[in-house]
Amino acid sequence: MLLYIHIPFCDSKCHYCSFNSFTKNHHLKKDYMDALLKQIDFEFKRFNVKKNSIESVFIGGGTPSTINPSLYEKLFLKIAPFLKKNIEITIEANPNSAKKEWLAGIKDLGVNRISFGVQSFNDDKLKFLGRAHNSQEAIKAVEDAFEIGIENISIDIIYDTKIDTKSLLKKDLDLAQKLPINHISAYSLTIEENTFFENKDVKKDDENIGYFIKDNIKFPQYEVSNFGNFQSYHNKGYWQLKDYIGIGCGAVGFLKNERFYPNKDLYSYIKNPIYHTKEKLNENDLRIEKIFLGLRSIIGVEKELLDEKKIKILIEENKIYEKNNKIYNKNFFLADEIALFLI
Ligand SMILES: C[S@@+](CC[C@H](N)C(=O)[O-])C[C@H]1O[C@@H](n2cnc3c(N)ncnc32)[C@H](O)[C@@H]1O
Ligand code: SF4
Repeated sequence: MLLYIHIPFCDSKCHYCSFNSFTKNHHLKKDYMDALLKQIDFEFKRFNVKKNSIESVFIGGGTPSTINPSLYEKLFLKIAPFLKKNIEITIEANPNSAKKEWLAGIKDLGVNRISFGVQSFNDDKLKFLGRAHNSQEAIKAVEDAFEIGIENISIDIIYDTKIDTKSLLKKDLDLAQKLPINHISAYSLTIEENTFFENKDVKKDDENIGYFIKDNIKFPQYEVSNFGNFQSYHNKGYWQLKDYIGIGCGAVGFLKNERFYPNKDLYSYIKNPIYHTKEKLNENDLRIEKIFLGLRSIIGVEKELLDEKKIKILIEENKIYEKNNKIYNKNFFLADEIALFLI
């Protein structure tokens, strides 16, 4: 079982982002953190969480580094008895707010993996994306995190924007790999509804650019957007469709065949953190999810979920391979295409 905690506050809204986050009402941070504790009580009962049973924790956002470490204390105290020993505890952070004191405080609480939203080290691209930090701040944040002893550091990069050139991307990736990181998440820009980028001509739509990114990252690719010497246990858990508890107003929970969606609105969530809507998944929904997730990553797909004849065709075309009753994708960038053929 995995635990995800959502922090919905951001200093500013990036042009591409549709995540549930708020740039106003920061005075509600304390109330929000208290509301999380109430939802934890509720969800831990629903998921029947036993001592030493949670396998990994991920605090995402929004921007978790907008919250002072002291405001996380109660939360860490509450979940501590339920965590397995030595598990991965990741937090997302933005370079402009993840100052050294914040990083030290969060490490003291037990966080051992950090994922920085760098997006690029090119200042023009950072402005184009509407980011609140510059390249120097990004470099400093990564170095500070390493210096205070957080060993597992990941950075997020966005590519396939209109202003990308091979030279810009190569410089970004070369610089990234000189830093003390062991993981890169590289996302192709998606144009989301209700963002500043909606209906704007900002994407390059170069179908080969993903391969360029892959070729210039030294870490092994273990999912379409993820590369690392240290692979995220938490992310792999999602792709295996493990149960996950979702805490916070932008979180989703998943238990066996049901998804739970808390209130998305900040005020409503604080008022009633245990309110949620439910979505039931039938056997075929679950089968389709397993196929898509398994092909996008090194997880693979159980053969019994698939049609033998179609598997044979794809093996002959050298697109997939079979091992121990599972099939594995050879090219994650083709995952959706292959999945659509197989479902
Ligand atoms: C939950 S978000 C943000 C975490 C953190 N607030 C930050 O900005 O660094 C995680 C990552 O998703 C990626 N992302 C968000 N929206 C995206 C989009 N429309 N297209 C591509 N990547 C996106 C960004 O790389 C971002 O760092
Ligand atoms: S990308 Fe991160 S910082 Fe930017 S608006 Fe989205 S959640 Fe906030």
